[in-house]
Amino acid sequence: MKVSLVLLSLAISVSAQQHVFETEPPGTAFHHPIRRVAVVGAGPAGLQAAANLIEHNFTVRLFERAPHPGGNWIYSEETPVRESYPYAYANKLRDEPAGHAAEIPAQLPVTRYYSEGDNGLTLDERWTEHWQPRPVWDSLHTNSPKVSTELPDVQYAPDTPWVLSTHTIQRHVRSFASHHCLNSNDYCPASVSAPPVTAYSTRVEKVEKDDSTHTWVLTLRRLERLYESDRILAEWWTETFDAVVLAAGPYTAPHVPEIDGIVNWSKAKVGAQYSMYHSQTYRHPERYADKTVLIVGASVSASEIARDIGPFASRIIASIRPPKDSTEMRQRSLLRFPNITEFVPEIAFFEPLEKHNEGIRNGKIHLINGTVLQGIDEIILATGYRSHPLYPHNSTSRVPEKIHWTGHYIPDPTLAYTLGRPWVLGRYQSYGFAKVWAGTARLPSEEVKLPPTPDDRRRNWRSMWLGEAIIRRYVSWLNGASLEHGGRFVEPPPIENVELLNYYAVVHFLNINRDCQTTMDLDGLGGLGISTLANQLTGKDPWDALVFEDDDW
Ligand SMILES: Cc1cc2nc3c(=O)[nH]c(=O)nc-3n(C[C@H](O)[C@H](O)[C@H](O)COP(=O)(O)OP(=O)(O)OC[C@H]3O[C@@H](n4cnc5c(N)ncnc54)[C@H](O)[C@@H]3O)c2cc1C
Ligand SMILES: NC(=O)c1ccc[n+]([C@@H]2O[C@H](COP(=O)([O-])OP(=O)(O)OC[C@H]3O[C@@H](n4cnc5c(N)ncnc54)[C@H](OP(=O)(O)O)[C@@H]3O)[C@@H](O)[C@H]2O)c1
Ligand SMILES: *[C@@H]1O[C@H](CO)[C@@H](O)[C@H](O)[C@H]1NC(C)=O
Ligand SMILES: *[C@@H]1O[C@H](CO)[C@@H](O)[C@H](O)[C@H]1NC(C)=O
Ligand SMILES: *[C@@H]1O[C@H](CO)[C@@H](O)[C@H](O)[C@H]1NC(C)=O
Ligand SMILES: *[C@@H]1O[C@H](CO)[C@@H](O)[C@H](O)[C@H]1NC(C)=O
Ligand SMILES: *[C@@H]1O[C@H](CO)[C@@H](O)[C@H](O)[C@H]1NC(C)=O
Repeated sequence: MKVSLVLLSLAISVSAQQHVFETEPPGTAFHHPIRRVAVVGAGPAGLQAAANLIEHNFTVRLFERAPHPGGNWIYSEETPVRESYPYAYANKLRDEPAGHAAEIPAQLPVTRYYSEGDNGLTLDERWTEHWQPRPVWDSLHTNSPKVSTELPDVQYAPDTPWVLSTHTIQRHVRSFASHHCLNSNDYCPASVSAPPVTAYSTRVEKVEKDDSTHTWVLTLRRLERLYESDRILAEWWTETFDAVVLAAGPYTAPHVPEIDGIVNWSKAKVGAQYSMYHSQTYRHPERYADKTVLIVGASVSASEIARDIGPFASRIIASIRPPKDSTEMRQRSLLRFPNITEFVPEIAFFEPLEKHNEGIRNGKIHLINGTVLQGIDEIILATGYRSHPLYPHNSTSRVPEKIHWTGHYIPDPTLAYTLGRPWVLGRYQSYGFAKVWAGTARLPSEEVKLPPTPDDRRRNWRSMWLGEAIIRRYVSWLNGASLEHGGRFVEPPPIENVELLNYYAVVHFLNINRDCQTTMDLDGLGGLGISTLANQLTGKDPWDALVFEDDDW
């Protein structure tokens, strides 16, 4: 607690002294110069943001709820505890700051100790609820090639295959963290008295603007497992910043469909094992041996998990709904299901179970076409994720509105979001945050207007965030600003990378079709033949190659 109080008073004294710019303001005008910056999230995006801000001599604090850097790519045998995410609640998370506002004690700072079973939670449940172990499974491989899944400054070994294992990416992201002294066991203070940059196992619960001081107040919660005394130490405190980067990622919380009866079914167990759970808890295929598994969803998690358990399960049933719009990526996912998959329509409702300790084999699942499914052993909800923007917490959209293409929040550009593919865009975006806040770049004034309708917006964002267009825009903006106000120059990705992406896209698609195990009729998928698919991909923006990112990001 001492540390945080010191930080707080330091921040206040700095902001009290500085009310005017020291130099002719070339950049966007702020109430006072930006000195202290918080970064929320130590995934590929947040780590790059922190590294760029440190390079620009800001006082940086990097907060990460997980015990290590890596973001989505931390592989762990731990899984999020289902019971702490009752289904009705999981969807509500986005409406509440970090979903746990009610748990923030009234008086801060405060320290509490928890023992096994306190408030009905085991220590493991308390721990995994805090950091939500990531939705990557042991055999997961990328659906993007390494040329577009690589961070700057550290390189994959030349013999690393194009398709990367989750374990390889984990090491890669952690190498980047260590390279910049941001790993969980690194400590490279600028001076003896400087506070540490990183705070792992520290979840940002709230991000609020203090209108009187024009600073951001972050409410933080850190957990520490005390193995010797078999307890968990929880600390809550606040820290104050001049600017904040929200790099919490697009997949912060599970999306669970609101199907009638799903809450009732979510309690069903066999022994200690739940019978229905979200795909974020999937790790290994072995326990599906000789089981009948129902997978809900038609996207990447659904098809890849089906593929993983295919050699083990006795039956795989996939409940899919008609596509909202027919994309090549959806078709790709459908082709990836193993050939034993039986496709059924969407679920209408789950008939309430009589007991919760006998699993779901006798339960009845009503499909929208009137058919009733029975005899299912396990249900995997591969129904996707929700982002959790933290702020503005009453925003109804998943991507906050009023965001500049640089990621800055337009009404208050001391707040910025990381957007798009961090592997490709993060280096430019982070540099942009640093330059705008250091006063060596103006927020570009053009393109501030967002497209009129949400649909237009989505389309526009998708092409902008993923494509070459945005890279060109960054390069010209950043280099123009550096020419005028100083700073290093940036380059677009080397042309051979674009060629590699094109090549990969075609070869990969041909391979999928060759290995295609599905009994589904290819022509039934919108009449697209192999060559048509390949042509479509080469015709598209290559940076988009085979990455099925959430439309909104
Ligand atoms: C199952 C799965 C497979 C994927 N496969 C691919 C792939 O093959 N290729 C590809 O390019 N992309 C893939 N992705 C997308 C993936 O999101 C990106 O590769 C990348 O990890 C995004 O980086 P990020 O830093 O934006 O977010 P993340 O990597 O998600 O990092 C965000 C970090 O913020 C932290 N955080 C969130 N909220 C808080 C809070 N309140 N307080 C403190 N910390 C917080 C999280 O703990 C997390 O560590 C996949 C995603 C999923 C879910
Ligand atoms: N590298 C890999 O191997 C890998 C593996 C997993 C995930 N990923 C990545 O992770 C991200 C998330 O992928 P994801 O597959 O978890 O989520 P997703 O792409 O958001 O897909 C969610 C799926 O659930 C379906 N769904 C939601 N509610 C449903 C309902 N009530 N009934 C039936 N279906 C329902 C959706 O259908 P609609 O389409 O109709 O909405 C969609 O098919 C993507 O970027 C993906 O590329 C990568
Ligand atoms: C950061 O500080 C160092 C040492 O004072 C200085 O050499 C460097 O130019 C500064 N970097 C930026 C981007 O201002
Ligand atoms: C299904 O796939 C398996 C394993 O990949 C293969 O041995 C089998 O011949 C395939 N069956 C059909 C009907 O295609
Ligand atoms: C409903 O869908 C299932 C699975 O595809 C199918 O077997 C069944 O015949 C369908 N029922 C009706 C009434 O169409
Ligand atoms: C849910 O299932 C239990 C069986 O344990 C049953 O007692 C209960 O009434 C069901 N709830 C609803 C709302 O149907
Ligand atoms: C969001 O909250 C702010 C104040 O907290 C309020 O001024 C604003 O009107 C709210 N917006 C919506 C869309 O509810």
